[in-house]
Amino acid sequence: MMKIYEAKDYKEMSRKAANIISAQVIMKPDCVLGLATGSTPIGTYDQLIEWYKKGDLDFSDVVTVNLDEYKGLDRTNDQSYYYFMHEHLFNHVNIKEENTNIPNGMEPDSDKECARYEEKIRALGGVDLQLLGLGHNGHIGFNEPCEEFEKETHCVELTESTIEANKRFFASADEVPRQAYTMGIKTIMQAKKILIVVSGEDKADIVRDAFFGPVTPSVPASILQMHKDVILVADAAALSKISR
Ligand code: F6R
Repeated sequence: MMKIYEAKDYKEMSRKAANIISAQVIMKPDCVLGLATGSTPIGTYDQLIEWYKKGDLDFSDVVTVNLDEYKGLDRTNDQSYYYFMHEHLFNHVNIKEENTNIPNGMEPDSDKECARYEEKIRALGGVDLQLLGLGHNGHIGFNEPCEEFEKETHCVELTESTIEANKRFFASADEVPRQAYTMGIKTIMQAKKILIVVSGEDKADIVRDAFFGPVTPSVPASILQMHKDVILVADAAALSKISR
């Protein structure tokens, strides 16, 4: 069942999403949080940091598992998701480094790394709350539209358009990663609770298609309709094309 929380703008969306994550951490201080990168969750992380600094949140027993990472990027590369997570959250709260998990982009053996990551999540007892962003084409993690849902953590070939779009962040096109590791659809669907944050009018069409259209691998996020505990927190602009 999907619950929808409408926020008036990005700031309010971030606050509501952070509220849900806080509730999880307070109810279960040693919970496993699944985290995402991208522009949408930045405000949510900022809000969590603010509450941590006020003394209202404690991350000392929290464990995190991130959705994805570029293959071939060093942790020190400012485009790596390792770097992003430290910059936007981990460096500012009392989470233990050893409790944070991100696919290892520097492991060249894809089968080995994907199996290790799946096993890690399993050994942790699964994800209590998975935070997701929504791509314009309906992707979640690096699970792009395709013919069939990809189940477990796997290595994806980035599309030419993604490589092209990312080029501006790198010194040269050669340095842009060609592949990434990502949790699969089954990995994501096994989370006990899912929180998806979406903001902006440019996401209004995909919010409608993903959550009110048919469930299809050509819109990967549409599978979330089948999950029993999903919360969509979106601003009014992102919800502007659905009729309720
Ligand atoms: C991030 C991720 C991506 C983003 C999605 C939306 O770890 O896996 O699926 O959530 O691309 O990105 P933004 O929030 O930048 O629109």
